[in-house]
Amino acid sequence: MVPMNARATLAKKSADVASMFDEVAPRYDLLNDLTSLGQVRVWREAAVQAIGAAPGLRVLDVAAGTGTSSAAYAARGASVVASDFSEGMLAEGRRRHPDLEFVQADALNLPFEDASFDVVTISYGLRNVEDTRRALEEMYRVVKPGGCLLVAEFSTPTFLPFARLYRFYLARVMPILSSLFSSDEEAYDYLAESILAWPAQEELAVLIQEAGWTRVEYRNLSGGIVALHRAIRPEQ
Ligand SMILES: C[S@@+](CC[C@H](N)C(=O)[O-])C[C@H]1O[C@@H](n2cnc3c(N)ncnc32)[C@H](O)[C@@H]1O
Repeated sequence: MVPMNARATLAKKSADVASMFDEVAPRYDLLNDLTSLGQVRVWREAAVQAIGAAPGLRVLDVAAGTGTSSAAYAARGASVVASDFSEGMLAEGRRRHPDLEFVQADALNLPFEDASFDVVTISYGLRNVEDTRRALEEMYRVVKPGGCLLVAEFSTPTFLPFARLYRFYLARVMPILSSLFSSDEEAYDYLAESILAWPAQEELAVLIQEAGWTRVEYRNLSGGIVALHRAIRPEQ
């Protein structure tokens, strides 16, 4: 039976989002691999390259979930704090990555000092937060002047026939995959809806700029299914 809070709505109320992720946590990474047809690994490697993960770099991974995004940065020697507000995702993350530092934290009210990280990043999380602007401002606050923001998020395929095919995949194929491999099908309905309602590349770039970030640029992956947006906190 599907739990009452199996899915959030597009209002993205924090309590609904957190309990939805609590439920999906044990099978979250498996479903990511399946529903992305393995592409998620390519996207993670692109994010590692985009932030230049290396020893000495202090990285905050916001909405880090089970820590799979964080582990990819740590594997290159970066010092990573993985933060998330879902207890279920954090528990799964601590089990899978005992060497990573996990901190329970709301992206809208980060418990970190001003200017305390070189890089702040959020992978497939910004779309789920209740207040996008507030999350972008919080990330700005905790990164050092001259430091970098990287947002990895689902986006809009740029080639129209491919965009149509992708919408068909989201509406028809992904629900079948999620029903076969997960008991939380409703959470995957939310995934499709939230992807389709999310701002396209240029719109997201504007939102990032409006939150104070500068030198905003983006790169499409897999034809625009995902976009990596990178920006810099100005040096005063
Ligand atoms: C799709 S998962 C992404 C996890 C991870 N970054 C990855 O790449 O696999 C989205 C995560 O965002 C978290 N999240 C959503 N809103 C949040 C908020 N306001 N504060 C902290 N975490 C939040 C959820 O708990 C969930 O773990």
